[in-house]
Amino acid sequence: MLQVKNLCKSFKTGETVQEVLKNVDLTVEDGDFITIMGASGGGKSTLLYLMALLETPSSGEIYLDGRRIDCLKQSHIEDLRGTSIGLIFQNANLIASLNPLENLMIAMKDGKSKLKTKKKAAEQLLSRVGLSEKKYAKTTALSGGEAQRVAVVRALVNNPSIILCDEPTGALDSSNGEKVMKLLLELRKETGCSLVIVTHDERIGALGERRCFLKDGVLNEVV
Ligand SMILES: Nc1ncnc2c1ncn2[C@@H]1O[C@H](COP(=O)(O)OP(=O)(O)OP(=O)(O)O)[C@@H](O)[C@H]1O
Ligand SMILES: [Mg+2]
Repeated sequence: MLQVKNLCKSFKTGETVQEVLKNVDLTVEDGDFITIMGASGGGKSTLLYLMALLETPSSGEIYLDGRRIDCLKQSHIEDLRGTSIGLIFQNANLIASLNPLENLMIAMKDGKSKLKTKKKAAEQLLSRVGLSEKKYAKTTALSGGEAQRVAVVRALVNNPSIILCDEPTGALDSSNGEKVMKLLLELRKETGCSLVIVTHDERIGALGERRCFLKDGVLNEVV
């Protein structure tokens, strides 16, 4: 369970202070599928980055399974990210010099498992998303949809309990976007992880089992 309490975030640019998030409360229960919609500039990405501990809140608290995590040391944050929290962005952000298989293997945090075991796990994941034949391909030669499918399984390599997605289909055409959404929903079912998707696409927003709107920094859930 990931819990955000009374979260505020302001950015200071020169003399002006912009309040981007205002007292946001959100509890992501295990297995939840939540969509967060809202107009551009409303603070969606900021909220997601705070939940992923990529940004620090101006005030408020974040808890993971009851443990406060917003004031952890950087090394502990990096452990959590990946093992407990998986991240997917609009662009796949794969490492261009590594092939898809290596991109998955390098994201695996369990230092103890053998290379062979990691390779097998990575192969299984690529096969799961229909990319077995591309495992040694040049990452830069993958299509946008293929690269994003690799990014989706990369977010899952360490079996996180929650996956945070910022406009995961934003850079894809509608057919590839649908494929990636279908994949995310199937993987959520298979793994039992919770899924939080930030989007300005109403069709994706409507899929959420819990739907939230972020407007001018204020989060409201549709009840
Ligand atoms: N690092 C930063 N420094 C200053 N201002 C920032 C920073 N990050 C975000 N902002 C501002 O916070 C506001 C919210 O930005 P955010 O990226 O969270 O919006 P968004 O809802 O994700 O928009 P979009 O749908 O366009 O992605 C914007 O006005 C933005 O300029
Ligand atoms: Mg955004």
